[in-house]
Amino acid sequence: MTEKMLGIDVGGSSIKAGVVDVSAGKLLGELIAAPTPRPATPTAMVPVIAGLAARLPAARGRIGLAFPAAIKQGRARTAANVDQAWIGTDGAELVRQALDRPALFLNDADAAGLAEMRFGAGRGETGTAIMLTFGTGIGTALFSAGHLFPNTEFGHMELNGMDAEKWASAHVKTVEKLDWPEWIERVNVYLQRLYALFWPDLFILGGAISERFEDFAPLLRSQARVLPARFAGQAGVIGAALAAAEADA
Ligand code: BGC
Repeated sequence: MTEKMLGIDVGGSSIKAGVVDVSAGKLLGELIAAPTPRPATPTAMVPVIAGLAARLPAARGRIGLAFPAAIKQGRARTAANVDQAWIGTDGAELVRQALDRPALFLNDADAAGLAEMRFGAGRGETGTAIMLTFGTGIGTALFSAGHLFPNTEFGHMELNGMDAEKWASAHVKTVEKLDWPEWIERVNVYLQRLYALFWPDLFILGGAISERFEDFAPLLRSQARVLPARFAGQAGVIGAALAAAEADA
């Protein structure tokens, strides 16, 4: 297995990249980022991805490309927070054309969850764990005994007549100027619904908000344990590289 691999995490507002030591599950050097172009089409985004890769020391092997969509047979099947032109697009093939490197294309929350389950908050969890990434949308990753059930899209579960992510994402907190208690109350409702349906043992809360966990933890109500993501905004990059390394192994 190649030890140093490149992970890229495409988000609705920024694209991040870093070189990851996949045997230690940590970034080597800095995480670099660029704003997601608007409209967020493949044509506009691939040069940004290539530009970020060019700024990093050459890593070897496959590139891990985490993307905010359900990915089946290597193609994006949804496009909630990026341009619809992504639907049906083979992300690994675009990277191969732009960077002349093989790539693995996977859902961003699945990538973040892999990082947390292998090296972070979920390490050693033998029951059911749900990773939630709060950002532009809500990404979810479901694990049973450390095994990923890929492409769960619980951010689109209906709550109050709308997609959960249109009501409880970090983006909604900002746009609606919700304070912590107001927002966490929405998160509590969401966690309760997920608990009733999946009976998880552990929720891992990810995205940039996980860095404020100590502040809002007293407001959380959940029947399952709740832990902050260890890797916060880095989890997608680390997990993308881990998934690529597993595919190369
Ligand atoms: C997408 C998911 C993604 C999540 C977080 C949702 O809108 O449908 O695939 O994981 O946002 O980026």
